[in-house]
Amino acid sequence: MRVRRLLSGDELAVLHAAHLFDEPPGLAAVRAYLSDDRNVLLLAFEGSEAVGFVRGTELLQLASRRRQMFVYEIGVDKPFRRRGVATALIKALLQDCRERGFEEAFVFTDPANVPAVELYRSTGALTETPADRMFVYPLHSGLEPPV
Ligand SMILES: CC(C)(COP(=O)(O)OP(=O)(O)OC[C@H]1O[C@@H](n2cnc3c(N)ncnc32)[C@H](O)[C@@H]1OP(=O)(O)O)[C@@H](O)C(=O)NCCC(=O)NCCS
Repeated sequence: MRVRRLLSGDELAVLHAAHLFDEPPGLAAVRAYLSDDRNVLLLAFEGSEAVGFVRGTELLQLASRRRQMFVYEIGVDKPFRRRGVATALIKALLQDCRERGFEEAFVFTDPANVPAVELYRSTGALTETPADRMFVYPLHSGLEPPV
């Protein structure tokens, strides 16, 4: 399995992965989405088949120049679940954010969504309370000088 970030020019790859999304992607919307570098869309492939995706949008802050990654949505095609696809997608996203100096990544989920909660916990996300909807991946120690 390999994970690839989709960029401007990859619109057709997104349309071919329509089965992964709750609502079918449209060409104009996909083009606009990919043309904004703050949007990150990663697809996981088994051979030439798209089997999972994660997408997020980077946010600026007021107290720090370090960015945050808002992980908006993740999904894996049913026959490919429980094989580490989502884990690979999250790890690839976090690695990219770490390399680009992000403060943290965060994601919201329904605490009743056991697969999602277990995925986020097993990949290192933290909550303040067990019932929290927000899961946070801290990405830098805070010991570096402020930026
Ligand atoms: C949540 C989801 C993305 C997980 O994808 P996945 O590729 O199956 O996840 P992984 O194989 O990487 O699993 C990683 C860990 O998450 C946990 N996990 C995943 N699915 C689980 C399930 N059905 N029950 C319990 N734990 C589960 C396990 O700890 C698993 O590690 P393990 O297999 O070694 O025990 C997938 O179930 C999915 O697409 N669900 C529908 C969409 C959704 O709810 N998305 C999240 C909210 S936007």
